Amino acid sequence: MFLCPQCKRTMTMPQCACGYVVPEQNGIWQLSDAPDMITMGEGDKYIGYEHIGESYSGQRKFLIEERDALFAKVISDKAKDGIFLDLACGDGCFTVPTAANGTRIIAGDISNRMLSILKKKAAHNGISLEQTVLCRMNALEIPLADESVDVVVANSVLHLISNPQRVISEIWRVLKQGGIFLCGEDAPGKNPGAILDNSLYNEIVNSLYGEYWKRLSALGILPKRYRWKFDREATCTALFSRREETMVERGMPYETPLKDGFLPRFLGRGFSDQADVPPALHEEVTKALLSDFEKQYGADFAEISFHGVEDDLQIIAYYK
Ligand SMILES: C[S@@+](CC[C@H](N)C(=O)[O-])C[C@H]1O[C@@H](n2cnc3c(N)ncnc32)[C@H](O)[C@@H]1O
Ligand SMILES: [Zn+2]
Repeated sequence: MFLCPQCKRTMTMPQCACGYVVPEQNGIWQLSDAPDMITMGEGDKYIGYEHIGESYSGQRKFLIEERDALFAKVISDKAKDGIFLDLACGDGCFTVPTAANGTRIIAGDISNRMLSILKKKAAHNGISLEQTVLCRMNALEIPLADESVDVVVANSVLHLISNPQRVISEIWRVLKQGGIFLCGEDAPGKNPGAILDNSLYNEIVNSLYGEYWKRLSALGILPKRYRWKFDREATCTALFSRREETMVERGMPYETPLKDGFLPRFLGRGFSDQADVPPALHEEVTKALLSDFEKQYGADFAEISFHGVEDDLQIIAYYK
């Protein structure tokens, strides 16, 4: 079901009839040698997370979030005995709980580093990846044969790619007839988070971010917004034959301290507009910023939490 990176014909891993042997690195099949990220030039652009790595989910990186386990249950129910492609799987927030359900998975991402975190997350939770194939792959050119998988998820990645239409047509191509492109969205539930007072948390996040860019701008470095707008709904309804929507109610209260959510991502250059900030300068500016903020808000300001109420989970299934 895989396509040979060299001759583009179907192959059985790891060796193609053309003689090409797919390289393996840390248990990850290297099915693409495209750059980790492309932000310039004429062709398609995308932001891979190789430079972000563990900062993506900070101290929560090995946690299986309740929301992700709920979505994983839906994925496994839909995939049944078939194959689930977790496209741009990142740190494995869906792959890992889906693997725990015994589902057969192809997990692909452009970043080897993110795929390595996925492996560690599974190991940390005692979940076997025996039924999971890990691949470095480019979502713009999925290295799978036509009609080879049953369910595809491409969560939180379409906005990071300049040509999301192409990714959607690749998803459609690799899905079997009757296969499902599954999307999960946060939908405000019965207890919208707006009733909670997060003014101090918001003040700190906004001023940290604002001050960071003020100091970098003074040094000639401006934020670049790599975010491409895309009407997924219009594209998918035109392409797929049927759409089904379900809602999973949630609504539990939660709190996330700065040190578990915003801070590791921000300090690890984990937001895409930080992608081009030179690492040494980033270190210098954030070090000075943290020291200023400790003076202003107290040495333990990173313990300040965002208080919210979990959104409901809206699940949209587009059937081929
Ligand atoms: C915001 S993360 C989302 C990860 C995961 N799906 C989730 O929901 O948490 C985006 C992921 O897309 C990956 N990515 C970006 N461009 C890609 C591309 N062209 N092909 C494959 N993966 C890509 C990044 O490396 C990163 O792991
Ligand atoms: Zn070949």
